[in-house]
Amino acid sequence: MGTAQAKAQLQRPVDLFDKCFRFTAAREAISQGVYPYFQPIEQSFDTEVVIRGERKIMVGSNNYLGLTHHPYVLERAQAALHRYGTGCTGSRFLNGTLDLHEELELRLAQIMGQESALVFSTGYQTNLGIIATLAGRNSIVLQDRLNHASLVDAAQLSGAQMVRYPHGDLTMLRRLLEQHWDVAGGVLIATDGIFSMEGDIVDLPTILGLAREFGARLLIDDAHAIGVLGDMGGGTSQHFGLEGEVDLVMATFSKSLASIGGVAAGPEPVIHYLKHQARTLIFSASMPPSAVATVLACIDVLEREPERREQLWANAVYLRGGLQSLGFETVTSETPIIPVVTGTMERTFEFWRALFDAGVFTNPVLPPAVPENSCRIRTSVMATHTPDQLNQVLDAFTRVRARLGAP
Ligand SMILES: Cc1ncc(COP(=O)(O)O)c(C=O)c1O
Repeated sequence: MGTAQAKAQLQRPVDLFDKCFRFTAAREAISQGVYPYFQPIEQSFDTEVVIRGERKIMVGSNNYLGLTHHPYVLERAQAALHRYGTGCTGSRFLNGTLDLHEELELRLAQIMGQESALVFSTGYQTNLGIIATLAGRNSIVLQDRLNHASLVDAAQLSGAQMVRYPHGDLTMLRRLLEQHWDVAGGVLIATDGIFSMEGDIVDLPTILGLAREFGARLLIDDAHAIGVLGDMGGGTSQHFGLEGEVDLVMATFSKSLASIGGVAAGPEPVIHYLKHQARTLIFSASMPPSAVATVLACIDVLEREPERREQLWANAVYLRGGLQSLGFETVTSETPIIPVVTGTMERTFEFWRALFDAGVFTNPVLPPAVPENSCRIRTSVMATHTPDQLNQVLDAFTRVRARLGAP
């Protein structure tokens, strides 16, 4: 008998499943009736959803422009279903490219102000594909500490050294660039355009200046900015009048564009390289036809109905102003993402549950996404919320606070 075998008979080896048997936090929240996750939506009416037979006002979605139920978008999605079938059953690289994917890439490159674009099946895969393909063991990836998890995971997958600077601290970013500008594998700065938990906007002019000064490449994640920022909804660069100046921009279709999928946009040779080297593109099936047609239709609506974006911003100003005048702390929010500080985790769960019972669907945000004791209820407005719905949300916050006490 080998030593390893003998050892295994005497003492129990580590079982990968042990952590699962010890994981009780979610079950405790379920038994206390405050578990907020995986709520099954039975029906959706854009700004309202039905859960277990009850209607809730939805202020926890990323459907900023309210396009998931737009008649023209539904019509285009249905037509694509009938023309191409339900799925592409293969990778973009092989049998999974439709003329629709190519049409979408042309439209996106244009609205994002870039030379070329490449469509992936999710935003998460887009970030993984961009960073893990371009950065390697000798590179360094500098990231804002509040960047989305997909950017962090992407840097880890790439094998590059990753350094995260405190949120918005561009003095620290400068220091890091002074230290690392000449690493052998090159430097990438990656940042969200709109930060998904704070609702603030990156200082693009400064960060772009730093990238240029130190010869680093800059990637902006416009997941929450596409359709929201800029005169035409073109994103963070358009908002700052810097279209075409950023090296690479990515966006997802799972928010304003009412679908699923993601896009990398940048110089043609870089996009061409990603198209032939990005493993998350090559080894995964492509976006289904109806999802692609949805995004194309949403871009049409974006161009034809600019008043939607105006209404989105008016609604955001109204809800944030209302929450602030009721005494709620909305941190640094300046976009349709409006977090409300609720304090501890227990209190946040209670607050979430009370709002839910009052007919309002929100999302709790807990560590590590935010610091301990600075947990939040994250709300996000839509262009299609009516004044009456927003007043009902404000009223629910007032009643819940009266019952539970100020956060
Ligand atoms: C900033 C940011 N980047 C990337 C993603 C990933 O996008 P997707 O949901 O399309 O995978 C998200 C989604 O939550 C996000 O908020």
